Amino acid sequence: MDYTKVKLPSHVAIIVDGNGRWATNRGLSRSDGHKEGFLNLKNLTKYIFNRGITHISAYLFSTENFKRSKAEVAYIMSLLTDKLKEILVFCHEEKIKAVFSGRLENLSDKVINTMDKIVNETKDYEGKTFNMCFGYGSHAEIIDAAKKIVNDVNNGKLNIDKLDEEMFNKYLYQELPPVDLLIRTGGEQRLSNFMLWQLSYAELYFTKTYFPDFKENDFDKAIIEYSRRDRRFGGIDYEN
Ligand code: IPE
Ligand code: IPE
Ligand code: MG
Repeated sequence: MDYTKVKLPSHVAIIVDGNGRWATNRGLSRSDGHKEGFLNLKNLTKYIFNRGITHISAYLFSTENFKRSKAEVAYIMSLLTDKLKEILVFCHEEKIKAVFSGRLENLSDKVINTMDKIVNETKDYEGKTFNMCFGYGSHAEIIDAAKKIVNDVNNGKLNIDKLDEEMFNKYLYQELPPVDLLIRTGGEQRLSNFMLWQLSYAELYFTKTYFPDFKENDFDKAIIEYSRRDRRFGGIDYEN
């Protein structure tokens, strides 16, 4: 597909879903599905950035996912711990700026320190920002922003009359441009508490394909669909 001929989003968000069902359908364990999902995420991220998209946000583990069995949560945590080194190498190879979004309270010190190292070592790369949402929930993010705002107002650092959408955006976990295209794999048509603020005018694309099977050509299809959408942002397209 010729990416120079289509209208491209700047910020693509992906709800990585269907890893468990992908594995169960093959007689594998859910853990195998998460492993395969990680591998696919790496390939897909590389592909997406190299097509000229500048921001990717990936929903990898939600605040609600802590409700899952202890064994599954432990497996996902250990997968993350194992893969952080690989993520660092990958970000250096591809010159990607890595950021993490989510509450750190349930993560080990080792994981938090390694995340800090990745963020620090990659912070000067420009043009490709990879936002990995782990232990993330949009309600939690908005509440955390509200608390920081109240603190800054109480400390005299922020004049409440100056608070507008642009300023509020700066209090979120990351200061990112709005999401243009949201892709959810795995067949569900819901947001499951993902980036509610940032998705306000995103185009939504749902596919039944389980994430480990969502490959480059599937992403191309989502881009073709996106490029056909008429984004009006509440205005009127007078040419039609
Ligand atoms: C997405 O896959 C990854 C996480 C939410 C951690 P799931 O684990 O939700 O897979 P399904 O939806 O059960 O197939
Ligand atoms: C959403 O998937 C969370 C992530 C992909 C990290 P879930 O599988 O947790 O969502 P629900 O439970 O089907 O809404
Ligand atoms: Mg799921």
